[in-house]
Amino acid sequence: MNKSYKIGIIKGDGIGPEIVDEAIKVLDAVSVAQGCNLKYTEMLLGGAAIDETGIPLPKETIKGVKKCDAVLFGAIGGEKWDKLERHLRPESGLLGLRKEMGTFANLRPATVYDELIHASTLKPEVIKGVDLMVVRELTGGLYFGQPRALLKDKAYNTMIYTREEVERIARVAFDIAMKRQKCICSVDKANVLEVSQFWRETVEEIAKEYPEVELTHMYVDNAAMQLIREPKQFDVILTGNIFGDILSDAASMLSGSIGLLPSASIGDGVGLFEPIHGSAPDIAGQGIANPLATISSASMMLRYALGEIKSADKIDTAIKKALKEGYRTGDISDHDAKEIVTCSEMGDIIAEYASK
Ligand code: IPM
Ligand code: MN
Repeated sequence: MNKSYKIGIIKGDGIGPEIVDEAIKVLDAVSVAQGCNLKYTEMLLGGAAIDETGIPLPKETIKGVKKCDAVLFGAIGGEKWDKLERHLRPESGLLGLRKEMGTFANLRPATVYDELIHASTLKPEVIKGVDLMVVRELTGGLYFGQPRALLKDKAYNTMIYTREEVERIARVAFDIAMKRQKCICSVDKANVLEVSQFWRETVEEIAKEYPEVELTHMYVDNAAMQLIREPKQFDVILTGNIFGDILSDAASMLSGSIGLLPSASIGDGVGLFEPIHGSAPDIAGQGIANPLATISSASMMLRYALGEIKSADKIDTAIKKALKEGYRTGDISDHDAKEIVTCSEMGDIIAEYASK
């Protein structure tokens, strides 16, 4: 009998719907070919949810995601909702969803496709062969710390990490490192922040459980510089919520475009799979968005949440083949590009290759 999975779909705002539609196209093609059955349930989040229900994270979405085997998410946010109070903004919906789902570990791989070596603004010799994984803590730190306030003459947020939070994200990073090059660079600001000193000491403790893994530490400002200077020195980067947000955007430019980087948000329960980029309202609806980050996120979903390794491999191979043949969306067009394609054409091409 065919295996059957319940997939939650959250398209969101801006380019969200277009890119998620292409990922579904690819998932359908590969699942038919591999004999598994994906049942989709669409749910609201962010601006789309605000327009429909008045709040960015409706109860039905919280209940709905918990019934799924995995959730695929596009992007949220846009100018239209920027003036709302913080707790009513689209971003608050996403943060609330991550917290509700307990997805404390955000895996953001940055690899450089040989085919796109000229799409990056960096020199080919600097980026060729880059293959790193940012393990970003996702449900704690500065994003969630209390107290926080916006007062008349001052405003503040709080960066807090508990031992339990650091230990569990460190274990995720060490487990991943064991399957890779066995090197972790933990990134913090321990020369200035107590919370970072605590982070560093706690990561050191967990390292004792993994004697085979080499652990180094780096201050976040230096890490940002080293990512651009010599990215190949990194295998796994372990870091907190805000530093991971910033460093993963920087890392995306090694690959040539933020439109390429997928992510998996995992924890104790259902996983959330999302491109690292935002909703790009400026290009929404024009059919020019790059769907590859979302299609790769769908592949991570098959691999990490559903254990459908063969299907995930099919998608990854299809992406490489499409790039090798010179198909490019506008953001990655370079002199190796043979044909500039639309978002939907890119989806068609990957779906066709992945189904073979
Ligand atoms: C990301 C995004 C989000 C974040 C925003 C939209 C809340 O930038 O997934 O990296 O900061 O985590
Ligand atoms: Mn971000």
